[in-house]
Formats: sequence, C-alpha cells, structure tokens
Amino acid sequence: MIEIVDEAPAHTGARELLLDRAFGPDRHQKTSERLREERLPALAFAALDATGDLVGTLRLWHVAMEGAQSVLLLGPLAVEAACRSEGLGARLMRHALNRASVAGYSAIILVGDAPYYNRFGFSGDLTQGLDLPGPVDRARFLGLELQPFALGSARGLVLPSGFLDPVCEDVVQAPSLQGYAKRAA
Ligand SMILES: CC(C)(COP(=O)(O)OP(=O)(O)OC[C@H]1O[C@@H](n2cnc3c(N)ncnc32)[C@H](O)[C@@H]1OP(=O)(O)O)[C@@H](O)C(=O)NCCC(=O)NCCS
Repeated sequence: MIEIVDEAPAHTGARELLLDRAFGPDRHQKTSERLREERLPALAFAALDATGDLVGTLRLWHVAMEGAQSVLLLGPLAVEAACRSEGLGARLMRHALNRASVAGYSAIILVGDAPYYNRFGFSGDLTQGLDLPGPVDRARFLGLELQPFALGSARGLVLPSGFLDPVCEDVVQAPSLQGYAKRAA
C-alpha cells in the first residue's frame, strides 16, 4: 500500500536521490529550474511505501505573470522505476490538482511530455502567450485552468514567486560562499 503525504524535511534526501535517478545529473540545467531554485514550494507531496520509503515525489511552485493570478508551476514529478505503470504517477497528479484547486489556485503550468500530461487536461493552447526564462520546446509547455479562463489573458515572461528558501538565503549571504552561489545561478 502506497500512501501520499505532504512532504516533510526528512524526505529531502530520498527525494533528491529519486530525482537524480529519474532525470539524471543535468536536471538542474532545465529552464523550469530557474523558476524553482532558491524558492520554497507552494505544495509538495511524497509517496511512501509500506516501509516508509519514498517512492514518488511531486512539487508545485508559485509563479507570477501578467494577466493571471495564483498560478502554480508543476514539477518535477517522478516515481521510482520499480513502482511505475501502477497508477502512482496519476494518483500524485490527481492529489496535487485537487489540493491546488481546494487551496484556490487558478491554473497550473508545466514543462513536460504532453502525451503523459494531456490525460489530466493539460494543453499547449493555454501557454501560447507565455515565455519562460530560458529555452523551451513549446510542444512541452502546457497549462491547465482550475478556474474558468484563468489563463485567458496570461502573457509575457513567467517569473519565480513565493517564499525564498532560508537555507539558500544563508548560502547567498555567507561571504565565503558568494562566488559559489553566483556560479551556481
Ligand atoms: C512519468 C512517471 C512519473 C509516470 O509514473 P507512473 O507511476 O508510471 O504513472 P502511471 O502509472 O500513472 O501511468 C503510467 C502510464 O503512463 C505512460 N507514461 C509514462 N511516462 C510517459 C511519458 N513520458 N509520456 C507518455 N506516457 C508516459 C506509461 O507508458 C504508462 O502507460 P500504460 O498505463 O499504458 O502502461 C514515471 O514514468 C517517471 O517517474 N518517469 C521519469 C521521470 C519523468 O519523466 N517525469 C515526468 C515526465 S515529463
């Protein structure tokens, strides 16, 4: 039995290892990462197996843009290879969409495989007026409205929003690490 829970700090290590396995070491180069780095997620979920091991992860992030309010960026989504094709990815997605909807968010955008995300209602039509802070394959830039016409007037550059991660703030403020922080950005 796999349970979906709100992510806790104790899950961080296992979550990062799962993401490394699922996306490879270059995952931090992705354009979506520019909207996530040094921020705290708006919503974060972990899938735990019967022994409490983390076997799935999904997080969502505050983003800002002209013409739309209360929009989230979804991702990354990953399920442990041994647990795939059993509906866990879909459970994580439905759980996240439900929680985002109940919390009053108006829409969700993501960069991902349309053949997977179409089944949850995501469409490239809704992101036509939007740009990301880096290169993106437009066929993979998708949106979903949780409230009618939420993305109808959305346009321009999508920017990171929400709270800064205090751990990252410490790194940026520590004088001896400033050069490192700059290079990593
Ligand atoms: C994508 C992922 C989260 C799906 O998890 P999952 O638990 O297997 O998902 P589900 O069981 O709900 O759905 C599985 C179905 O989705 C399909 N699917 C998986 N990844 C897909 C993709 N990238 N594109 C299209 N279909 C995909 C599978 O073929 C499977 O089809 P089937 O039911 O006909 O066998 C998982 O494969 C994964 O972690 N992949 C690596 C990381 C990744 O690519 N994440 C996001 C994709 S942008």
